[in-house]
Amino acid sequence: MTPGVTQPGATLREMTWRDIPALTALEPVLFADDAWSGQTWWAELAERPRRRYVVGERDGAVVGYAGIDCGGEVADVMTIAVAPPMRGQGLGSTLMGWLVSQARHVGAEYLMLEVRADNTAAQRLYAAAGFSQLTVRRKYYQPGDVDALILRMPLRDLSDDSTQDVTT
Ligand SMILES: CC(C)(COP(=O)(O)OP(=O)(O)OC[C@H]1O[C@@H](n2cnc3c(N)ncnc32)[C@H](O)[C@@H]1OP(=O)(O)O)[C@@H](O)C(=O)NCCC(=O)NCCS
Repeated sequence: MTPGVTQPGATLREMTWRDIPALTALEPVLFADDAWSGQTWWAELAERPRRRYVVGERDGAVVGYAGIDCGGEVADVMTIAVAPPMRGQGLGSTLMGWLVSQARHVGAEYLMLEVRADNTAAQRLYAAAGFSQLTVRRKYYQPGDVDALILRMPLRDLSDDSTQDVTT
């Protein structure tokens, strides 16, 4: 992965096991209802070869991260998050750009994700990135009976599809 510098000055780099303490400290802040444990992060990094994770780092601190599962026609966003003090400065969009570039790099045709129906900030980020809603999983998130919106972004320019019918 080529490291890059984002608008707020956070550098993207590959996530490593050394980041796990920082990640487990951030998770309950960022995902109050379903924070990943240190054990989950260990498994993600050590036992899931299809997955790739990146962190945004500023002044030596992890201030955001994102991950993707790549394994065929469809790539799935595993996570994307930005620490509260860094929000609204473009880091989320930069992380999304990284996810899209990874999915394209492995030749995926679609990038998919699920988002809570009450997470309007994330939904606006995804809409701006080019995702549209595919379906809804009712009352998916518990507790609270919150629906999950399943979003999808096409990665291939459908106008280039040589299998499409051509009317002469
Ligand atoms: C969603 C999240 C990653 C956005 O990160 P961010 O760094 O603030 O995003 P950006 O600054 O790049 O903003 C990108 C777009 O997202 C939308 N957005 C971001 N924060 C928003 C807010 N509080 N309200 C409404 N829209 C918001 C806007 O459309 C924004 O574009 P704009 O600035 O041109 O209006 C961040 O809010 C977050 O980490 N939330 C908690 C974790 C989470 O919910 N992750 C997603 C799980 S599905």
